[in-house]
Amino acid sequence: MKKNKIFVACDSNNIQKVKEIIQKTQNSKLKIGYKFGLEFLNSKNGRKFISKLKNKIIFGDYKLADIPNTCVSTIKAVSDLKFNYLTIHISSGLNALKAAKKVSGKTKLIGVTILTSLDNKSLKEIGYNKAVKSIVIKQAKLANKAKLDAIVCSPMEVNLVKKVFKKEIITPGIRFNSKAGDQKRTLTPKQAYKNGSDWLVIGRPITEGNIKNNLRNLINHLK
Ligand code: C5P
Repeated sequence: MKKNKIFVACDSNNIQKVKEIIQKTQNSKLKIGYKFGLEFLNSKNGRKFISKLKNKIIFGDYKLADIPNTCVSTIKAVSDLKFNYLTIHISSGLNALKAAKKVSGKTKLIGVTILTSLDNKSLKEIGYNKAVKSIVIKQAKLANKAKLDAIVCSPMEVNLVKKVFKKEIITPGIRFNSKAGDQKRTLTPKQAYKNGSDWLVIGRPITEGNIKNNLRNLINHLK
């Protein structure tokens, strides 16, 4: 049987904590990759640590949101880390997406849609008058046009995205306990896979508290 795929978000600036996360999430039931976000990537020794990681699926969550030239030069600047996946905000615009895709090489370029911490009310606050779902579908079409390799969206929008984007779909906003924290558009791991997510991104529900117990609960939940 195919294994469920999960990116564990290594959100810490502490090398020891990240080592602990990696060590305690090794298991044979799931296919695990590791996601490094802005906190770890900008920490004092984060870059060096990633450069020494061997035989792991690694995801650089840079969430680039910039002009084409800066997106391109940033992707080139981190190419020595040989990320398997790297993110760019689709709101950077079609030219930035196309330019980034041209230089991303073997690294799969992931387009990030509307953050899972935002809802319709938050979008209004920042001046967008359309609903989350209609912007996400528009962004998915743009990702397709720019030939991106994957999309990040909420597990609630997978069905919608699948209609216009045929490659990998990666979903954060996963909760298998009641602590939503800052996330707004969440579903459980089971629901996310049922909707068609290829990869889930899970951070705090695994990394906070007892990592091994959390992972066991997740595996049981998925049975
Ligand atoms: O702790 P939690 O499970 O909420 O972590 C989710 C991870 O996914 C975080 O590292 C966050 O930066 C990332 N992410 C997200 N929503 C997006 C894109 C990335 O939560 N739209």
